[in-house]
Amino acid sequence: MTDAEILHYITTDDRAEAEALYAGARAVREKHYGTDVYFRGLIEFTSYCKNNCFYCGIRRDNAETRRYRLSREQILECCRTGNALGFRTFVLQGGEDPYYTDEKMIGIIRAIRAEFPEHAITLSIGERSRESYEAFYEAGADRYLLRHETADEEHYRAMHPAEMKLSNRKECLYTLREIGFQVGAGFMVGTPFQTPECLLEDLRFLEDLDPHMVGIGPFIPASHTPFAGYPAGGEERTLRMVALTRLLLPRTLLPATTALGTLAGDGREKALLAGANVVMPNLSPVDVRKLYSLYDNKICTGDEAAECLRCMSLRIKATGFCPSMVRGDSRVAFPQIQTVPV
Ligand code: 5AD
Ligand code: FES
Repeated sequence: MTDAEILHYITTDDRAEAEALYAGARAVREKHYGTDVYFRGLIEFTSYCKNNCFYCGIRRDNAETRRYRLSREQILECCRTGNALGFRTFVLQGGEDPYYTDEKMIGIIRAIRAEFPEHAITLSIGERSRESYEAFYEAGADRYLLRHETADEEHYRAMHPAEMKLSNRKECLYTLREIGFQVGAGFMVGTPFQTPECLLEDLRFLEDLDPHMVGIGPFIPASHTPFAGYPAGGEERTLRMVALTRLLLPRTLLPATTALGTLAGDGREKALLAGANVVMPNLSPVDVRKLYSLYDNKICTGDEAAECLRCMSLRIKATGFCPSMVRGDSRVAFPQIQTVPV
């Protein structure tokens, strides 16, 4: 697609064109993944963060949010609960929390790996050194999520304090990929100061990186942050970005994000219909769920993991797709595996 075509699809108000885009994305997804929707169990293990991103509810300077950390044993308990429910991927996500030194992380990864040799272990703990990433990989982690947030330099500077650098973030993603991780990049739609050209740049960056997964969700204002007063990103534009990403990176994994489900009641279902093929229900202990508030009014914070799983499965089936508890590796990494449509 040319730049002009992409910008047109990002901005057009023409319903028929938008529907055609979604149908095209859906067809590409079915070609590579059938109608399966993969589940990932998300464990939000620390809400401490040393970073100060202007949009994020757990940023360092937010004194109004209560912080928590899970112990290795608590994390393992979440994994056990998830495993009993059928999950075959655990995603350990947290703020950039120096408490979890490389040594501690390695201990946690090894313990999960020892108990669950077949499961995929995904990390989402931000920017670290190549040496740290290598050690995590060595310990048994197989995937790493690190959204680039925006691929545009100027836009990145408008969303982050000066000490954070887009170049380092991009570097981390290429390094992770080189080490052998299946990597997930991604960005928010509708962050303050974002233009359609920024989104075009996101797509061009993704084409170059060729990640195994791309997380795309709307910006949703978070109280007590510099961006608290800005409007949320649009549902429609988020869906356009999901569909365009599917068309440009046919084999990538695309989650129907919780943020999109928060913005609109049927947001995740619509994302599945626009090319998404992954959902990430929460396995964090219910008593800390509300505290991991990257943005306001996050859904699914009151539900037990089993409840969330049941609800998600029903939603997926009702949308015409098939909930799947396989590991769900990316076809970017394993293009030879063909799915059998259910
Ligand atoms: N709205 C939507 N998404 C957000 N994230 C952080 N803050 C917000 C917000 N206010 C996203 C970022 C981050 C991911 C874990 O959550 O993209 O990478
Ligand atoms: Fe979590 Fe519905 S998906 S409660």
